[in-house]
Amino acid sequence: MAANAKLEQLIRIAAPLWAGEAEVVRTYWTSPVRTRDTDLLWLSRQCFKEFWGSGVSKYDRGGVFVGCLKSLVAQAPEIDVTLDRHEVLGVLEGIKAEFSHYCAFAEIYDALRPAGAPRLNPQVLESWSEEDKLTQLRYRHQDEHGALGMRACKFTEGGYCALFREGKALKGKGGIEDQIADACAFIYEDEIGHMLAGIADIGNEALSDAEWKLLGELVVAQLQQRIRMRNQQFGEPLSQDRVAAIYRGEIEPMRFDYARAGLAA
Ligand SMILES: [Fe+2]
Repeated sequence: MAANAKLEQLIRIAAPLWAGEAEVVRTYWTSPVRTRDTDLLWLSRQCFKEFWGSGVSKYDRGGVFVGCLKSLVAQAPEIDVTLDRHEVLGVLEGIKAEFSHYCAFAEIYDALRPAGAPRLNPQVLESWSEEDKLTQLRYRHQDEHGALGMRACKFTEGGYCALFREGKALKGKGGIEDQIADACAFIYEDEIGHMLAGIADIGNEALSDAEWKLLGELVVAQLQQRIRMRNQQFGEPLSQDRVAAIYRGEIEPMRFDYARAGLAA
């Protein structure tokens, strides 16, 4: 089978799980569990991800901000010796992008917090158990499967922009919903092209049938864990039964944008 056919197969495996992550967020917006406190919680957790999250690049252990910066400082003597300057530039651009995402969510948090409540800062941000499990899973895949594990991490990064896609759909509802929509629209535009290009790029890899099969298994494991991560982030708007049904494929799959990814459908 040609690489593009293999890539299409991988996208077909991923599409129902991408839709599942989107359903978590979409369900939360109108869920009876939603209060100002649960909004403050998911926003602070998203800030955690944007600032301290890691597991999708070889530079980010210790977080996308501090971890990447420390790693760059440590490797500065190697620039243009063993480390290409363009790779460094790419890491710096990534740090700026992630920090701007942190700022966008922190600003909504600060707008929403009750009068007199403290402002948010990176030191007070906390992870949650399903987020920790996702990070551990990604590190394990990288440690056990090297470049293929990293490929899987890149493929699942952002979960087809589920949060940002569903967040920007709140536009026009007024108040905090519009603030969430504006932040999500900004981040969506920042991430979607880069994410699609990353996925399309896998079609250029010379992988054996066994490697494609393993990549599929790693991707499914990570995308399933992403649904649990997102569901807990938002206070479990989906029941465990519904999550299990999504895993079984009982959901309309996400439509992959082949045209924007630069791939023939
Ligand atoms: Fe981000």
